[in-house]
Amino acid sequence: MRLKDRVALITGAANGIGYAAARRFVEEGAKVIIADYNEAEGSLKQNELIEEGYDALFVQVDVSSKESVQRMVEVSISKYGKIDILVNNAGITRDAMLTKMKQEDFQQVLDVNLTGVFNCTQEVVPFMVEQGKGKIISTSSVSGIYGNVGQTNYAAAKAAIVGMTKTWAKELGRKGINVNAVAPGFTETNMVATVPEKVIESMKSMIPLQRLGKPEDIANAYLFLASDESNYVNGTVLHVDGGIMM
Ligand code: CAA
Ligand code: NAI
Repeated sequence: MRLKDRVALITGAANGIGYAAARRFVEEGAKVIIADYNEAEGSLKQNELIEEGYDALFVQVDVSSKESVQRMVEVSISKYGKIDILVNNAGITRDAMLTKMKQEDFQQVLDVNLTGVFNCTQEVVPFMVEQGKGKIISTSSVSGIYGNVGQTNYAAAKAAIVGMTKTWAKELGRKGINVNAVAPGFTETNMVATVPEKVIESMKSMIPLQRLGKPEDIANAYLFLASDESNYVNGTVLHVDGGIMM
């Protein structure tokens, strides 16, 4: 059991990569808070895990709202008394070419994908500082590292996560908190379902492993960074992308 009795809060855990991580974490002994905007899917996934004998709690949250995040942390602390692991995984896309991108779509992606990570980390960190340890993992993307056609807003937010991760690694290391990011490549979830087939095919042709990622591939990277096996890893960006660009 790599996460025995740890409490992990995973945002965006009602679907895709976040849910794969929730499942992987409970299998390793963690208690998991499924923090998600989607109430129907979140409750469903909570019940699925509980029925299998795991300890899980769904909390509805909009990570872009400070008040909503504060409530999420209050509910989590009152149930479990602590948060050992925070995975800032919630994210959205609103893709368009630069010249066609609407101001509100630029802003919304920054609000959720960037401000959301700031909000959650700022609210959770005091509890980690109090207990003298913690693990923070935030989800960047291959798009934030190398750029991607149609993703001005998304790439900006995902690149900014790298800067925040390194800053927090420096600020919080001496408090016993490890801060890292994962940069997934194209991964088989709802998020890529709307990507035109020709774009997927051209991405696949650039991946040495010749396939898209599976949610479990990314969940396993989160697990490593959440576990004691990564206690000397801090401020890093772990690329989990089949080697799409090196
Ligand atoms: N590489 C190179 N050129 C590309 C391209 C690409 N990946 N995608 C589009 N283009 C080109 C098109 O071939 C086209 O060229 P021409 O004008 O010469 O014909 C031009 O750019 C405009 O493309 P569209 O005709 O498709 O323009 P559109 O306005 O209808 O749509 C778009 C633009 C919404 C960005 C659409 O192309 C699209 O959805 N692309 C995929 C974006 C993408 O990869 N999103 C990733 C989502 S998954 C995710 O975000 C997870 C993650 O972290 C990776
Ligand atoms: P997904 O769309 O399957 O899941 C995202 C989850 O986030 C959903 O359950 C959604 O309800 C939730 N969410 C959206 N807005 C929210 C908000 N304001 N507050 C709380 N929850 C919210 O997507 P996927 O693929 O599982 O994405 C997970 C993370 O991985 C995202 O940060 C994404 O940007 C990132 N990523 C995904 C890649 C992919 O190819 N699928 C590649 C690289 C990064």
